[in-house]
Amino acid sequence: MKKLFIIANWKSYKKEKEVQEWLETFIKIGMTSSIAKELIICPSFPFLIQIKTYIQQKNVPIYLGAQDISPFVEGAYTGEVNGEQLTEYVTYVLVGHSERRLYFHEDDAILQQKVIQARSVGIEPIYCVRGEDDAVPKDIAIVAYEPFSAIGTGIPDTPENANTIARKIKEKYNSRYVLYGGSVTSANVHSFIEQPHIDGVLVGSASLDPREFSKIIEYA
Ligand code: PGA
Repeated sequence: MKKLFIIANWKSYKKEKEVQEWLETFIKIGMTSSIAKELIICPSFPFLIQIKTYIQQKNVPIYLGAQDISPFVEGAYTGEVNGEQLTEYVTYVLVGHSERRLYFHEDDAILQQKVIQARSVGIEPIYCVRGEDDAVPKDIAIVAYEPFSAIGTGIPDTPENANTIARKIKEKYNSRYVLYGGSVTSANVHSFIEQPHIDGVLVGSASLDPREFSKIIEYA
């Protein structure tokens, strides 16, 4: 059985009370995840402590990921959260998400710096690309293929095409895992997961609802 990554990317959604409600509902539903599924929640920074405390208290097998990381070490960089600050909370970090590239103009050089910072403190980067044209830095173990046209549109890529791109990424960059992201729901998750080169999903909108996210885990 292959290892599967199921990642919730909450983007800039949810306030403290909603985070609490999500966690309580998610636990109540009962997680059917097998040990082979790696569940990762990527919330906004203010909620990392809250979620970490909750999952420790309840002993739930969920990992945390950051949605971003400073390209610098600690210092006078207003607004940035650096790797040393993140490392006690998160195991993973998203780097190169298309929304970071589009709205914050992050280019390959900045993304490379973020990867270096993550690695220097032992955080595993999950490197997002929009397609074959986005380069992947050296030695990235986990890549997420998220075609721009599929993000938040309700129009996912076809599982067959996603599988072809995943295979090419593995061949070209020697990445161990390639995930698919873009309009993943409980209705289509299995069609992606059953592809031989797809090792998980990165879920935006559908992860905001704990019931739907639980179904995604179950049907994956
Ligand atoms: P979506 O977002 O599931 O809402 O399409 C995916 C992502 O941006 O990671």
